[in-house]
Amino acid sequence: MKLAINVDHIATIREARKSNEPEPVLAALLAEQAGADGIVCHIRGDRRHIKVRDLLLFRQVVKTKLNVEMAATEDMKKIALDIKPDIVSLVPEREEELTTEGGLDVISNEQHLAPHIQELKNAGIRVSIFVDPDLKQIEACHKVGVDLIEINTGKYADLKPGKERDEALDEIKKAADFGYKLGLEIHAGHGLDYRNVRPVAAIPEITEFSIGFSIVARAAIVGIEEAVKEMIVLIE
Ligand code: PXP
Repeated sequence: MKLAINVDHIATIREARKSNEPEPVLAALLAEQAGADGIVCHIRGDRRHIKVRDLLLFRQVVKTKLNVEMAATEDMKKIALDIKPDIVSLVPEREEELTTEGGLDVISNEQHLAPHIQELKNAGIRVSIFVDPDLKQIEACHKVGVDLIEINTGKYADLKPGKERDEALDEIKKAADFGYKLGLEIHAGHGLDYRNVRPVAAIPEITEFSIGFSIVARAAIVGIEEAVKEMIVLIE
């Protein structure tokens, strides 16, 4: 199982003070040093965390694989063709949302998505769609020509252990199996954390996770002792 780290929330901390630290690129390099198989970020229309400047730097320094999440708009396509990430992940985007709220509605947007995806692929970029564990939507992903899909684990992650969560896990299993049989590479992510990841990691068709918030949140806690000690040395 591969792990790609989403560093958006390193940039969220930076933007909380409109500062120049912490540096998402440095976090990306340290994540790679720790064994991450890829770096993920989401460039949003409102640029609330990741900026074009970050993408330019990621492109120069990321040695594993750069996966940029974005909406399927003309403006974003221009950015992708300019930066040339290894993977572009198409996601739905709503301005007021706190985080991506669900998978892309591929069925209703097939005519727009197919040429958009082809253009990205012609530039040598692999294309992914963030999709709910819904077989009809996954079939549409295959039809519009993506190389891989990322199954949305958000519904599963929001539920407490129990029957409802088992059902959500079962939907993910069926979706992974269906996508795999269509020849797609299967990734998964959203809301995965240190408590809920293992049952999803046991699904054999899923080859890669994209995890952000829980890892950045944990890093803030497991790193705080070192940060306090360093400041005490300075002020004593
Ligand atoms: N995959 C997609 C498509 C996302 O939009 C996000 C959140 O930016 C993630 C995965 C990672 O989710 P989380 O931050 O909850 O781990």
